[in-house]
Amino acid sequence: MRGLPPVIAIDGPSGTGKGTLAARVALELGWHLLDSGALYRLVGLHATARGVALEDEPAVAALAASLPAEFRAAGELLHIFLDGREVTDAVRSEIAGTGASIVAVLPAVRAALLDRQHGFRRPPGLVADGRDMGTVVFPDAPLKIFLTASAEVRAERRYKQLKDKGNDVNLPELLEDIRRRDERDEQRAVSPLKPAVDAVILDTTELGIVEVEQRVRQLIRDRHLN
Ligand code: DC
Repeated sequence: MRGLPPVIAIDGPSGTGKGTLAARVALELGWHLLDSGALYRLVGLHATARGVALEDEPAVAALAASLPAEFRAAGELLHIFLDGREVTDAVRSEIAGTGASIVAVLPAVRAALLDRQHGFRRPPGLVADGRDMGTVVFPDAPLKIFLTASAEVRAERRYKQLKDKGNDVNLPELLEDIRRRDERDEQRAVSPLKPAVDAVILDTTELGIVEVEQRVRQLIRDRHLN
């Protein structure tokens, strides 16, 4: 795909620090950012708001194809709008995450979101965060990173985040929820969560965000992407 702007694909399960990493790299390089998980979350929220059952594949896919969503980057933050209303916080809620993982197993929904995701690829480049950025959506990306971390560490990070926001949370329940979501993401027939054969795998169980960023910066230099 010569001539297309370059893509840095950052994939992996949630709680690995992938979203923060993608936002920082995009900001540093001055590139566009695609938070593909937010698209699946928005589809779930939109379907629920319209009274469409999350399992109704043709109806959910039709909503996904004409999703009235808008993303506005403000530094490292991404403001998200649905039908003109700001839904940045609602998109990050646990309920939106669960809805997203239900609609994400539907092949027609994934297909409906493909064009929209490709549309984020604009000069000078794109940092794309998700599960299948390197395998399916941007298989020609010149740099693919796959972040992993143990389910326990991811649950603890999520626990701290929610607690800091004043939420009433239960660690064993969060861990159980993460395991169930991982299983759904890894077992689904279409675009399961797995590293691309040419992805660089970084385990963040014991690596801090600063160390991860240093490694990624080095990879960006090595591939002459900066
Ligand atoms: O990264 P996240 O937690 O916002 O993702 C929410 C859900 O959407 C998660 O269950 C996996 C799914 N997803 C996906 O199937 N493909 C993507 N590219 C991004 C997210």
